[in-house]
Amino acid sequence: ASPQDLAKQHWVITAGPTMEAIDPVRFISNHSSGKMGYALAQAALERGATVTLISGPVQLPAPAGAHLISVKSADDMLAACTAAMAHQADVFIGAAAVADFKMKHASEQKMKKQGDIDELQLTLVKNPDIIAHVAKNNLAKCVIGFAAETQNVIEYAKSKLNKKGLDMIIANDVSRTDIGFNQDDNQVSVITKDAILSPEKATKTALASELVSLIAQHTHATH
Ligand code: C5P
Repeated sequence: ASPQDLAKQHWVITAGPTMEAIDPVRFISNHSSGKMGYALAQAALERGATVTLISGPVQLPAPAGAHLISVKSADDMLAACTAAMAHQADVFIGAAAVADFKMKHASEQKMKKQGDIDELQLTLVKNPDIIAHVAKNNLAKCVIGFAAETQNVIEYAKSKLNKKGLDMIIANDVSRTDIGFNQDDNQVSVITKDAILSPEKATKTALASELVSLIAQHTHATH
């Protein structure tokens, strides 16, 4: 059995994609499977943490013992995060692939094909940056983000760490088809303001326990 060293801690984890309505039957989303966030929730639970898992639509069972809050849009996810951290959480991990944009005005009715037009323009507006909001308002003592990049992985991840005010960022190269999106394996670099670690490629489950250890150590060292 794992040590129950996180027994007094509340971890809040976002996972999966968000789904942004275009109209009642259509949406904008992405291919995030939620596997990494769910594996992190499972690993934190195994060490005794109280875990709130705020998840977009995925095809995964909730880890036993997690407080699962199912959401669709980024706006819903932000509201659920704010409510879950009314009392400051110990750790927030933003593993969700939040859609960058949503419809400026989602249609209340199903959009009709209009005559014989060949082009349709949708106006999108930026979604709230959930993790930046969590960091800025100190909703958790330790705020950890993910960065999916296709090039200059470390460099872009570092700038995200600074820009969003995070304590740690877990970066992976999504141009590789053997890891990341929808795969069972992942290989990441873990970046804090004064260190870069690169654990070996591993299953998301194995990697999740390693990441939870690193996060627990980091939280312990800095608080
Ligand atoms: O900016 P980018 O999407 O690359 O940053 C990734 C990190 O920011 C992830 O941890 C993701 O969960 C978080 N994020 C967020 N809200 C957004 C966009 C990204 O929480 N609107």
